Amino acid sequence: MRLIIQPTYEELSKWAANFVAARINEAAPTADHPFVLGCPTGSSPLGMYRELIKLNKEGKVSFRNVVTFNMDEYRELPRDHEQSYHTFMWSNFFNHIDIPAENVNILDGNAPDPMAECARFEAKIKSYGGVDLFMGGVGPDGHIAFNEPGSSLTSRTRVKTLTTDTIVANSRFFDGDVNLVPKTALTVGVGTVMDAKSVLLLVNGHNKARALKHGVEGAVSQMWTITALQMHPHSIIVADDAACGELMVDTYRYFKDIERDNLAPESQLK
Ligand code: GLP
Repeated sequence: MRLIIQPTYEELSKWAANFVAARINEAAPTADHPFVLGCPTGSSPLGMYRELIKLNKEGKVSFRNVVTFNMDEYRELPRDHEQSYHTFMWSNFFNHIDIPAENVNILDGNAPDPMAECARFEAKIKSYGGVDLFMGGVGPDGHIAFNEPGSSLTSRTRVKTLTTDTIVANSRFFDGDVNLVPKTALTVGVGTVMDAKSVLLLVNGHNKARALKHGVEGAVSQMWTITALQMHPHSIIVADDAACGELMVDTYRYFKDIERDNLAPESQLK
């Protein structure tokens, strides 16, 4: 697992966007062999999405042959609700890039048979030969997608009950009212993320410092699902300095040291 430390959220966002664009370009995707990208919601990826939109408008990357699968979606929130992940993705990313609408896959939180919807989603990912790059954020309790503490590290897409911690954290998007936050969600499993050929997690801000410490220095545990990334052969966490506040000084220096001579992904973009 690589840990890329950037001084600020802006630099983290640029690094991530340049990395994603470079991977898409390197794959030279076609309609028959698209690049399969896993997408997160939340505040963490907003800066990266803004940068990717810019790169797309500048002609440095195209999403014409990119197929996306979103990580998760609230249950029983109308699809066009302003806080649905469906609305989030279209207003913050998809509406501003050249991706064909039919290439976008988001779990249907209102499906009458949620388990069948989850199975359909997994099968569709499989039909593309898996996800090339799964991007993600992390909750303050170390969850990836909605794989709350206690989620099996081999879990697949399914319905999850949200913990009170997550409901409180996400209430900021629902006028601060915990009663308005859906109590369940459909989410890819830790196993679904782990099956991707590569994984990129964005971790920023002081309130993620504990999650990052567990993710980088902690033992692999279902109580901190971020730790599963330690078992992935091609996983990267890109963090800002604020999120590194609880790392040991030596851990911080070690990752800075081994990344010193690596090329910035920006230099791989034409
Ligand atoms: C939610 C999402 C996660 C996301 C997390 C952190 O719980 N299901 O995928 O990583 O929030 O969100 P934020 O980036 O807003 O801190």
